[in-house]
Amino acid sequence: MFQGKNIVLGICGSIAAYKSASFVRLLIKSGANVQVIMTPDATNFITPLTLSTLSKNPVFVDYFIPETGEWNNHVDLGLWADLIIIAPATANTLSKMANGLCDNLLLAVYLSAKCPVYFAPAMDLDMWKHTATQENILKLQSFENILISPGNGELASGLYGEGRMAEPEEMIDFLSAELKKKLPLADQKVLVTAGPTYEAIDPVRFIGNHSSGKMGFAIADELASLGADVTLVAGPSAQVSKQQTVKRIDVTSTAEMLEACVSHFKNSKACIMSAAVADYTPVTVAQQKIKKQNSSFTIEVKKTTDILSELGAQKTAGQVLVGFALETNDEEKNAIEKLQKKNLDFIVLNSLNDKGAGFKSDTNKVTIIDKSHKKTVYELKSKEEVARDICQKVIELIKE
Ligand code: CTP
Repeated sequence: MFQGKNIVLGICGSIAAYKSASFVRLLIKSGANVQVIMTPDATNFITPLTLSTLSKNPVFVDYFIPETGEWNNHVDLGLWADLIIIAPATANTLSKMANGLCDNLLLAVYLSAKCPVYFAPAMDLDMWKHTATQENILKLQSFENILISPGNGELASGLYGEGRMAEPEEMIDFLSAELKKKLPLADQKVLVTAGPTYEAIDPVRFIGNHSSGKMGFAIADELASLGADVTLVAGPSAQVSKQQTVKRIDVTSTAEMLEACVSHFKNSKACIMSAAVADYTPVTVAQQKIKKQNSSFTIEVKKTTDILSELGAQKTAGQVLVGFALETNDEEKNAIEKLQKKNLDFIVLNSLNDKGAGFKSDTNKVTIIDKSHKKTVYELKSKEEVARDICQKVIELIKE
């Protein structure tokens, strides 16, 4: 959730500043770029050296850096930030924020910023309860600044009550949930299939294909990074999801993939069927390994269920269904036939005649054809970039 996000962490003069070290560490571990700005008082509670070491960035306290004659540009810092979190936020700083005071670098950055601002108060219980503090909080909320409520417990004063700054892990969870809410596919359930299916001939042999699953895994990762709740039904594949939130269901045969897809499709907003599903399966599966006998032998096969057609028949209004077509000839004509026959919203056409497209490679070259037969031809791209194009199209359809 924090990958590549620019976060300004404002630290004020409170004993809770000792928690800032763990908080910075958690943000950095989650992939954020962290710029710490401390009020002068905060440096009495925790050293800038600790925080600059953990954040891998110099810590700013003052406008001016006397050693170099440079100054820390509050406007640049405010615009750089994707989000600001002031934690611990003292009664003093909250009051200044609520009233537009600007007597230190942190407050100047706060006033310059256009991004969301979060604040996690830390103070003694009577200071917290005071009408002045509560009115300042209400005023900050009216500015759309977001409160991370303090907890109840033992306070540094020895008193017991409300006013303890939220724990670093709680603040991470809070911010993650907030960031997730803003993503374009937040809380949308999406089903993705990937990889081949294997149809057993006997206990040691199967009919399969060369699909690596790379395209489907890239799509699942991209959807998850856009906030979707992703279920990935994967045939046998060595791929692993980069996004930990992807829920993977491993299957082997087409029948197993069908069962998993049908049970998840009804609750899904969209389904992207990128698996290379076997079209035929042996009529009987030998219980023992088939021994070598004649110079040739025949395996009788029967058609598998077309999973995508099945989902197309079950599709209800508002659901988005996407298929793939891997073709070697009459590519567009065949893809359009599949689009119509399987009741799809769009189809992603790969032609094996395009260099760098298809199974196993890290790249793909696709053409997307929608229901009105509008064609978008894409360049040869990495499978991650192709996944991005496909997911953007899904977002457009969901938002329609
Ligand atoms: N598909 C499916 N179930 C099958 C076969 C295919 O769900 N039993 C899906 C694939 O996942 C893909 C789309 O249908 O999204 C098209 O697959 P493709 O193999 O290109 O086409 P087929 O319909 O199998 O037709 P053909 O093999 O004759 O080209």
